[in-house]
Amino acid sequence: MSSLTARPLHQFELNTLSHVPDDYAWSALNDLPHGDDVVPVVDLASPDAVGHIGRACKEWGAFQVTGHGIPIHLLDRVEAQTRLLFSLPAARKLKAARGPGSLSGYGLANTSSFYSNIFWSEGFTIIGSPRDDARKLWPEDHDEYCCVMEEYNRLISDLSGRLLRAMMVSLGLREEDMDWAGLLREADPVLQLNYYPVCPEPDRAIGIAHHTDSSFITILHQSGGESGLQLVHREDTAGPARWVTVPPRRGALVVNVGDLCEIVFNGRIRSVMHRAIVNRAQTRVSVAFFCGPPPRFNVAPIEKLIGPGEPPAYRAMSWPEFLSLKRKLYNKTLEYLRSPEEE
Ligand code: SIN
Ligand code: FE2
Repeated sequence: MSSLTARPLHQFELNTLSHVPDDYAWSALNDLPHGDDVVPVVDLASPDAVGHIGRACKEWGAFQVTGHGIPIHLLDRVEAQTRLLFSLPAARKLKAARGPGSLSGYGLANTSSFYSNIFWSEGFTIIGSPRDDARKLWPEDHDEYCCVMEEYNRLISDLSGRLLRAMMVSLGLREEDMDWAGLLREADPVLQLNYYPVCPEPDRAIGIAHHTDSSFITILHQSGGESGLQLVHREDTAGPARWVTVPPRRGALVVNVGDLCEIVFNGRIRSVMHRAIVNRAQTRVSVAFFCGPPPRFNVAPIEKLIGPGEPPAYRAMSWPEFLSLKRKLYNKTLEYLRSPEEE
């Protein structure tokens, strides 16, 4: 192992290993039991979609969505381009490596810096236009990749607006109580492409360790075959927590509630703890769209929800302040992370 170059850029060598090196080994992966409850599937085209979304957000902080209008052939092309990107020679991927202080390009998922052990995965982050980094990856011909990612960004941003409006209505608010369209227009779309190589000892490694997303919501497309996404679920708020696997469902997208919605909706719904596990048999890819805020967003509960019977569960803060607070909380236990308002 000593010949490997400095982390995190030796991830592309994982598929050559016959065991999990020490700095990739995680000890507490079975911290919770596994449950076989099934994450809700919501058909966005059905007349009672809003009610289903509201229940899923309250009971799970997550659901799979069908009937969303994003054509399956586009999802297939996004997945094919993602696989193509990660199959490029290492030297090519390194040309687009995320530099210091930069959040876009090739490297590990951005949450990896919160942990001392290393993830069993490669990542590629697209912020705004995919074109600059694409030129480094494919100097000659990057048009297909860019067109696919641009089209996906357009449709998935639109879907995130529809989902956020439905979530508002399900909480008894009116669509006009928050200008989601304006917020989403000002925010750069962020796509996180993840690649999980096969792993010789899947019980000792983790693709992406447990975390909540900082976004309003995250919309995830995961490849078929072996499942990898797991969520923490409790049958009722006081019940024991367990890891539940979200099986890939062709054409469906996974929606995760992120920290920003937890705060904006004053804790009426909670962000969902999740992670990606790895397996011995099949490489896996996923593409996450982070529906985040514009840089100057004031992170605070919607005023309409605050009143004599419902005090603000979170104090107002700027987006950079929120991110630095989250960085501090990351080293704490899972339980602590799920109750930031008890700080
Ligand atoms: C993530 O949410 O961080 C990745 C999840 C996945 O690949 O399933
Ligand atoms: Fe995530």
